[in-house]
Amino acid sequence: MSEQHGSFWIASTLESNYPAVTDPLTVDVAIIGGGMVGITAAYLLKQAGRRVAVLEADRVATGVSGHTTAKVTSLHQLIYAELIKHRGVETARIYGDSNQAAIARLEKMIESEQIDCDFEHKDAYSFATSADQLDKIKAEVEAAQKLGLPATFVETTDLPFAVAGAVKFSQQAQFHPCKYLLALASKVDGGGSFIFEQTRVKTVSGENPCQVITDNGPTVTAQDVIVATNLPILDQGLFFAKTYPKRSYLIGAKIDPATAFDGMYIGTGSSYHSLRTTPTDDGGTLLIIGGGSHKVGEITQTQERYQQLRDYARLKFGLNAIDYYWSTQDMVSFDRLPYIGKLTPADRHIYVATGFSLWGMSKSVLSAMVLSDLIQGIQNPWAELYDATRPTPFITSESLKQNFDVGTRWVGDRLKGLFDSSDSVAPGEGKVVTTQGEQRGIYRDEAGQLHQVAAVCPHLGCVVAWNQAEKSWDCPCHGSRFDTQGRILQGPAVKPLDQR
Ligand SMILES: Cc1cc2nc3c(=O)[nH]c(=O)nc-3n(C[C@H](O)[C@H](O)[C@H](O)COP(=O)(O)OP(=O)(O)OC[C@H]3O[C@@H](n4cnc5c(N)ncnc54)[C@H](O)[C@@H]3O)c2cc1C
Ligand code: FES
Repeated sequence: MSEQHGSFWIASTLESNYPAVTDPLTVDVAIIGGGMVGITAAYLLKQAGRRVAVLEADRVATGVSGHTTAKVTSLHQLIYAELIKHRGVETARIYGDSNQAAIARLEKMIESEQIDCDFEHKDAYSFATSADQLDKIKAEVEAAQKLGLPATFVETTDLPFAVAGAVKFSQQAQFHPCKYLLALASKVDGGGSFIFEQTRVKTVSGENPCQVITDNGPTVTAQDVIVATNLPILDQGLFFAKTYPKRSYLIGAKIDPATAFDGMYIGTGSSYHSLRTTPTDDGGTLLIIGGGSHKVGEITQTQERYQQLRDYARLKFGLNAIDYYWSTQDMVSFDRLPYIGKLTPADRHIYVATGFSLWGMSKSVLSAMVLSDLIQGIQNPWAELYDATRPTPFITSESLKQNFDVGTRWVGDRLKGLFDSSDSVAPGEGKVVTTQGEQRGIYRDEAGQLHQVAAVCPHLGCVVAWNQAEKSWDCPCHGSRFDTQGRILQGPAVKPLDQR
């Protein structure tokens, strides 16, 4: 089989087919976004007796959640020693407990709704390949044990290569995210609640009730609104400045099930790899390898990241062919805690969940639990820690670096393409070029035809960058992405790039 460009999860499920919203509608809660946060929150709120409407710009489970690795664990590479050091034992304890509780809640939903989504208990490992990482591994084990988490230190694993040591969390889980989300969405739709697809929300106005304005025309009126668009499309909470978008790459290769390892793995250090297997519907096993992450828009030759993963698959697993390759991105929070709660201190009815830092399977369920409680006026023991309006650590070295980077790009990228012309764009490539006094994103297709879009991102005005592997225009500031015709692939932008 030749390599398929696209998520295995999406390729192995049928596309959903919910209608777009066509008429004005009133519900108790409008939820913008049909990913892990949106669908899970919709389900919990419907269970609690609320009438909900999910408004999804594309199709359910085709955003980040349809492209993830889908390990469901409270072992988030290495985090507990650092949390204890910088935020204290109590914060670290709540973080661990809330993620563990979210895993249990996910399992309960899957069980009670009898969702066939390849949910399996697995042990999760963060491993070091060199001895210089061992101190960190041991510190993580000690920290996690102190918090009562199911952690042990191991020197061997069932990976086909040696590790220096690893943190092991037992009884974690993995699943098929699209099978889960599509099944759960079908439980949400009906009985006065709705799933709408191909319905992009432009903004939310008013409060009590809120008016959710869609680009199809009709307005959805709701008492409460959850903005579950990965990075909120509403700018008031400044979440775009409290997080940064990180993109990462995955490949999937069919392997002999007899050779498959059993755990879920992630390396440590900056150039780590993420590893898991998943059953395929024909009774086989797919090995998934992730890695190569970078800030969105930072590199153009993204196909090299896929090549690095192919090389790793050959070196570590003896694989000469792969079946799938895809990539996606998530918002990284500067203080490593997600933002879950009100959009701003002044808002009483608009809620957000973002900043999952590439560990959003447990944190999205955790978000759904917190937001469903807040909307029902139920006290939630974790809400204060994750409060989305908490003072933001704008002055960590990471946040300063990322926001400085956004500022310099905003100014410096105005010069991008000044001395280039469309003649220098080779077939199959894209480039920002200044033409007729305007910066344009110019893509030349394989047949030689030019496709031109305005290169200034409609979100907050940064200049987009070319992504060669995905053939897309990616905004380096807050991660909006557009196809070669300017159509939105990923927010926070709610308007396309104008075609030229
Ligand atoms: C490479 C990679 C691997 C990962 N692996 C793991 C893992 O193994 N374990 C783990 O815990 N986490 C993992 N994560 C993180 C996890 O996948 C995400 O945190 C999680 O899927 C985010 O869910 P979400 O609901 O916030 O976003 P999404 O799934 O993106 O949902 C948001 C939805 O909102 C829609 N939307 C956007 N704008 C609008 C609009 N204007 N109107 C209407 N709808 C809109 C989008 O179309 C999308 O469907 C990984 C992340 C990456 C990048
Ligand atoms: S995503 Fe914010 S300026 Fe482009």
